[in-house]
Amino acid sequence: MENGYRPSPPQDGFQARRLISVDDLSTDDIRYLLALAEHYAGFLRMGARPQQRLAGKTQVNLFFEDSTRTNLSFELAGKKLGADVINVPVAASSVNKDEGFIDTVQTLAAMGAHAMIVRQQSPGRLEELAGRLSCPVINAGDGAQEHPTQALLDAATILSALGTLEGKVIAICGDIKRSRVAGSDARLFKRLGAEVRFVAPRHLLPDETAAGGATLFDSLKDGLAGADIAMALRMQFERMASDAERDEARRDYFATFGLTSDTLSYAKPDAFVMHPGPMNRGVEIDGALADDPRRSLILQQVFYGVATRMACLDALVASGGTSAAIGGDRADR
Ligand code: NCD
Repeated sequence: MENGYRPSPPQDGFQARRLISVDDLSTDDIRYLLALAEHYAGFLRMGARPQQRLAGKTQVNLFFEDSTRTNLSFELAGKKLGADVINVPVAASSVNKDEGFIDTVQTLAAMGAHAMIVRQQSPGRLEELAGRLSCPVINAGDGAQEHPTQALLDAATILSALGTLEGKVIAICGDIKRSRVAGSDARLFKRLGAEVRFVAPRHLLPDETAAGGATLFDSLKDGLAGADIAMALRMQFERMASDAERDEARRDYFATFGLTSDTLSYAKPDAFVMHPGPMNRGVEIDGALADDPRRSLILQQVFYGVATRMACLDALVASGGTSAAIGGDRADR
């Protein structure tokens, strides 16, 4: 176990000052975060206490959309590193009194936040926020745009299972068009040398231009051929326009595109399945396959979620000197 040795930051230092998109990270930043995630995974496996790199820092979790694992995972990650973590009870907050998003976040920042973890709906809002706040903003999922820490934890999980992403074939299957995970995953996995495929019926596929370099397949058999990883994405029922669309997705998708131990045989013989959760069992993935420890990495993804978010908080926040409340000087990081 290598957890006595912290991985060294990139030669020119860790460059990113926020994490809104995977494109905020240089390839060196990505490799450093993945090495740091594995370092923290070692502590988590042993139940050992890592250095309290966030002692004295305040982390604010602000989730305007539903979340279980992402929110808890950020909370646990911050606490493991010694931060004071505040979860804003959005449903009971002044947002419901029409206080604008930016005002709400600025108010929280003024209380002394050193990191602002935000999940919200609108593309572009986080950009505006990052321009106004001096503490790092971390995107915990924005509408159908981006989910950078999910992409990092997925990469960390694949690395732990396969040793590398270089040359690996990763087939992402499901409601790609409405997913914020698909695009972030595709761009990150490509940066690490993988071949990425989007596999879904035509109406669930994005335009080629929005595919982040992934190749599009509308046949499960063709899309899974030679794949090392088959990742299922959730049918995003809540984002569908009508009951008819929801009924059709519930009824028809599994028969033609569901991941089962039978359909997984289109992929490499030792291929793994993944799913960012929450899962619709019997819709995008068969429950027995999801639960099969020889084929499924789904719980490893949850485990690496904590380790990866520890890495992100460490790299973005730990060496920052001041909080947003007192003007935050980024030069001292
Ligand atoms: C995803 C999310 O919420 O963006 N899940 C997650 O963060 N673990 C995917 C989803 O909603 O389906």
